[in-house]
Amino acid sequence: MNNIIVAIDGPAGSGKSTIAKIIAKKFNFTYIDTGAMYRMITLYLLENNIDFDDLKEIEKVLNTVNLDMQGDKFYLNNVDVTTKIREKRINENVSKVASIKIVRDNLVNLQRKISNNKNVILDGRDVGTVIFPNAQVKIFLIASPEERARRRYNEFLEKKTEITYDEVLKSIKERDHIDSTRDESPLKKADDAIELDSTSLTIDDVVNFISKEIEKVK
Ligand code: CDP
Repeated sequence: MNNIIVAIDGPAGSGKSTIAKIIAKKFNFTYIDTGAMYRMITLYLLENNIDFDDLKEIEKVLNTVNLDMQGDKFYLNNVDVTTKIREKRINENVSKVASIKIVRDNLVNLQRKISNNKNVILDGRDVGTVIFPNAQVKIFLIASPEERARRRYNEFLEKKTEITYDEVLKSIKERDHIDSTRDESPLKKADDAIELDSTSLTIDDVVNFISKEIEKVK
């Protein structure tokens, strides 16, 4: 049997990672959070004061940095950065870093490598268009910006981050804009992806819908 690849793409806060984690558990697939990799590189560049225009230095970083994922935990050069990569400063800078071609080329290679020989579910922006154009199941998950901001705002509240709903909405809209207008692998629906609007769907609704699509290709 061929390995199954499930691609979930869409904008920030559309519910990709929540859904992907549940599906991975349900079908015993490996979950790969591609956004977390862009977040880890962003964290490294910020913490080491590396300019986003300094491509030479960024290339060096990409060739030497060690990104590791174990279950829900993310390790950057063997340090647990799971909480840090969700901070506001990362949200504010990650889309800039993700638009750098050498960063994308490097991380796409890594994403393909760690998916090899497994049943996988990946979430991101370019899974169905660039990383795995042959994925058997492709979902483009969307929701209104206001609903996405509301979900993200609640996550920040739980983490006791000081931020207002309006700030979250603004940041989400900025990220959407950068992600969908960049030259390299912009956020867009693959022609053969199924668009699913989760604005007024429950998590169960979305999980059930995607599960049926997976059953069809199993
Ligand atoms: O969880 P959320 O949707 O907020 O973001 P994420 O999936 O962690 O991705 C963070 C950022 O990384 C996105 O806004 C994109 O700029 C970038 N990204 C990307 O360019 N390509 C991917 N496959 C995944 C993320």
